[in-house]
Amino acid sequence: SETTWQNGTAKDEEMKYFTRSDSKSFITTNWGLKINDSDSLKAGERGPTLLEDLELREKITHFDHERIPERVVHARGSGAHGYFQSYGDWSNLTRAKFLSDPSIKTPVFVRFSTVAGPRGSSDTVRDVRGFATKFYTEEGNFDLVGNNIPIFFIQDAIKFPDLIHAVKAEPDRSFPSAASAHDTFYDFVSLSPETIHMVLWVLSDHGIPRSYRMMQGFGVHTFRFIAENNDWVFVKFHWKPKYGLGSLAWDEAQKISGKDPDFHRRDLWEAIENGDYPEWEFGVQIIKPNMEFKFDFDLLDPTKFIPEELVPVIPLGKMVLNRNPDNFFAETEQSVFHIGHVVPGIGFTNDPLLQGRLFSYLDTQINRHHSANFQNIPINRPVVPIHNNQRDGFMQTVVNKGRVAYYPNSLQDGSPRLTPPSHGGYKTYGEQTGGRAFRGKSPSFFNFYSQAQLFYNSLTQIEKQHLINALRFELGLVETMSIRTRMIYHFNYVDHDFASQIARIIDVPVPTAIYANLNNSSPAVSIEQYSRNTIR
Ligand code: HEM
Repeated sequence: SETTWQNGTAKDEEMKYFTRSDSKSFITTNWGLKINDSDSLKAGERGPTLLEDLELREKITHFDHERIPERVVHARGSGAHGYFQSYGDWSNLTRAKFLSDPSIKTPVFVRFSTVAGPRGSSDTVRDVRGFATKFYTEEGNFDLVGNNIPIFFIQDAIKFPDLIHAVKAEPDRSFPSAASAHDTFYDFVSLSPETIHMVLWVLSDHGIPRSYRMMQGFGVHTFRFIAENNDWVFVKFHWKPKYGLGSLAWDEAQKISGKDPDFHRRDLWEAIENGDYPEWEFGVQIIKPNMEFKFDFDLLDPTKFIPEELVPVIPLGKMVLNRNPDNFFAETEQSVFHIGHVVPGIGFTNDPLLQGRLFSYLDTQINRHHSANFQNIPINRPVVPIHNNQRDGFMQTVVNKGRVAYYPNSLQDGSPRLTPPSHGGYKTYGEQTGGRAFRGKSPSFFNFYSQAQLFYNSLTQIEKQHLINALRFELGLVETMSIRTRMIYHFNYVDHDFASQIARIIDVPVPTAIYANLNNSSPAVSIEQYSRNTIR
């Protein structure tokens, strides 16, 4: 097959076609004219410089336009090329071809990122890490746009702009009100109880990875695998690092941040340059359709994970990253990932966060690239041909031939034809939909603290201490006392001792113990009641 190459993947070969090694013997303008590139054209030996100097103007103009907007989130990232190889034939689970044959090496490009900081921020900050993988499969690109934490802060995409506005720099001063923690973030999360589970993960050692090579990856949402005969299962995607999971201690992270803000970027680059190729195992948790309502949380709720004790992760294949980009901007910066890019055999669910993401990525990428043609940029192009009737637009680099750009037509042979699923075309899983329009949360989404408690209880003593120390530090930097108090209110539902240990240090009242049924949607004491009684 075209994607099995001995020395690199089909994508590597394609990238070579677009790579330019600059000549050492001469320099030209962008239009091929050989020039002297280091002296501007002057009227006389001591100037002034002439407007006529197109060589100067072209060079400066290009420079003036070198930056594109950074990603609105996940602005800082590092990428690498590699390949994915299936362990076997999984066609009983999914008709996705890249999972059907262990002899196929599917090219991949992975971008790791932090979420909150701008493009020039430091690597070792406490934050969620993005783990986005583009599989250039024989059936088109599949993007698995995940994170290093298996759950998310919010349950509904409509809150995403609020979450990000709260976590990024404050709009009036353009810096967060204290080091990495700040009033706006904890204000938002203290008023959004669904975030508490993820807050614990981020404030634990998972929030400061040792290396991108030592990070897990998760698709977060529940997806679908659909087999050729249309049998389907729910799946959760997992990446498990061959190196195992590694974190920095908070003190180390802060020191490294000062000495080498590029620590993770350098680590990934050097490992690959030295032939120490990072590797992950790809696995899925499989949930049969008849199990959909058998959990004490909703499978569509992205603030919940499925404990591996309940549903084990089945390893399906491995990914190796073995080549650094030739050019950071052309590849890592210009790459686009979209949760909606799937191949036959992979489908979505009604998770309301996932549904909002399906809209957001293309929209933001058109903004970032000022064009609808960024799929033609080498790093984004699939390794299979693109045929459709889309035309024109800024930066169109493809020369489409013929007089016909519509379907159906009778004027031109070879114009794109519709591809029925029987010929390998994508087939949407025919989920039953319907019901009255409803703006709100399903009652099954009101279970806020049970998995936060499960997570806390799963930590070892030293990991608990790290989490407590991190929260004492971060909440101690929050200036508004009512925000600190609200955070303790939530933590009291997770674990009374945990909440008390933090409360004592950050100078807010120690709450009384609550023995609540955590799966019950209405807490024993309402947050308003609690705040009234305790806020000074
Ligand atoms: C970018 C993951 C939720 C909007 C990214 C990236 C990752 C990611 C890994 C970086 C991609 C890259 O390296 O280029 C996630 C995960 C989410 C989540 C795992 C929740 C489970 C959301 C939501 C929205 C959103 C709810 C909006 C409704 C964006 C945007 C970008 C982005 C606008 C920038 C994309 C670009 O400019 O190319 N996300 N995200 N994300 N995400 Fe998400």
